[in-house]
Amino acid sequence: MSVSQALNVLVIDDEPSMRSVCEGFLRSFGHTVDSVGNGESGLSRIEESFYDLVITDYKLPGMDGLRVLQKVKDKSPNTEVIIMTAYADIESAVQAVRYDAFDYLPKPFELEEMQRAVRKLERIKKLTVENRLLRSQLKEDYGFERIIGDSDALKRVRQIVQRVSQENATVLIEGENGTGKELVAKAIHYNSPRAPKPFVPIDCSSIPPGQFEVELFGQDRGGAGNYKEGLLKMADGGTVFLDEIGEIPIEMQVKLLRAFQENSVRPVGSVNAVKLDVRVIAASNTPLEENIRAGQFRQEFYYLLNIVNITLPALRERREDTQPLVAHFLKTKGTGNRRLHGISQDALESISSYSWPGNVRELENLVERALALGMSDRIEKEDLPPSILRASRIGVSSTNDSSDDLKPLEEIEREAIFRTLDRTGGDKMLAAQILGIDRSTLYRKLKRI
Ligand SMILES: Nc1ncnc2c1ncn2[C@@H]1O[C@H](COP(=O)(O)OP(=O)(O)OP(=O)(O)O)[C@@H](O)[C@H]1O
Ligand SMILES: [Mg+2]
Repeated sequence: MSVSQALNVLVIDDEPSMRSVCEGFLRSFGHTVDSVGNGESGLSRIEESFYDLVITDYKLPGMDGLRVLQKVKDKSPNTEVIIMTAYADIESAVQAVRYDAFDYLPKPFELEEMQRAVRKLERIKKLTVENRLLRSQLKEDYGFERIIGDSDALKRVRQIVQRVSQENATVLIEGENGTGKELVAKAIHYNSPRAPKPFVPIDCSSIPPGQFEVELFGQDRGGAGNYKEGLLKMADGGTVFLDEIGEIPIEMQVKLLRAFQENSVRPVGSVNAVKLDVRVIAASNTPLEENIRAGQFRQEFYYLLNIVNITLPALRERREDTQPLVAHFLKTKGTGNRRLHGISQDALESISSYSWPGNVRELENLVERALALGMSDRIEKEDLPPSILRASRIGVSSTNDSSDDLKPLEEIEREAIFRTLDRTGGDKMLAAQILGIDRSTLYRKLKRI
């Protein structure tokens, strides 16, 4: 069964005739289309269900198309946005692309031009699905020895991973951002008898609540080419990795519990259930027992997931792992003529008092940064990011604080996030509040860092 490329499209335009022309045209290619007259109603649609594509006019009553674009990207990062704008507005078109618009259509345009942009998205969507499968089928090198660390906690983790990889039991991995949850999940899968079959990671924090059922179980709209395969079915025979499982809405938890108990799923719109053979590994950033206490997580679902529990301690609670990890990243990240052979004593001292809110991922980042920017053949104190220098007890005078240097926005953002997390002692709710972003946005950013 091929994966359908029919798209869910939302058209936002205040002119009814424009809306109906777009709707009719896109429907004739098999896409599902909704339309609204202003940005506010568009955004509330986005909260209710998932759209592959939003086509919005730039000039709208109330918020304009650029604002709509930003809000859509914030609420639903996997939704693409095309902006329609008059020729005179070329400046806004440039801005649109800068804000990550998929494309823009200078008005007036022929419907064929719209179709070209939509076709481009269809092709990309198709590739993404195929890539996801290909990537997951690659038998990557995930030996147990890839999980580095000399602490007792990490030694225990390696033992459990080794043991459970031979079983079919459900595993729940808990630990802060960047502690290695996905690494552990992959080690279990790639050392299990299921290794030749797919490992399918599903980031539950990036799926809008209304869209879980279609994404996970699939959808059957009837007729040829109208079948969308669910992610669970894509993992058939292999392992599904439900990342940030605490973000799954409660009604969906009940449905998943049933699916896993009955080993079958029923695609949305279909009367027939399909058989499913997957191993489930789940991960959470926060202890799920807290979610249960807050009434956001079903106890029965938790029992099903938590057959084996692996809790990965934060890096600050196992400082003895820092040095072997630095050594490991120096070895694996160095390429060609750019290799580093160690770390200077004062850099090491600065590192040893730091709280690592981004855990191992932050450490990995530090090594990559030193490789890219450093001048010496080892990591020097100057190569450390200001967030670490500032936090270190040794301190630096403000004159050699390189934080005033010009640098990419991405890096400034990363520093702001880590500094805030460091100051809140790792409290993500509070850090998100201070940074003025949603908690889920913070999670998403932490993963990309
Ligand atoms: N013990 C370890 N040994 C070697 N590499 C590690 C270890 N722990 C984490 N890493 C590396 O650190 C990075 C982050 O790890 P990973 O993505 O598994 O973390 P995570 O817990 O899933 O984070 P998030 O909650 O943000 O998704 C990866 O590149 C991973 O390979
Ligand atoms: Mg992860």
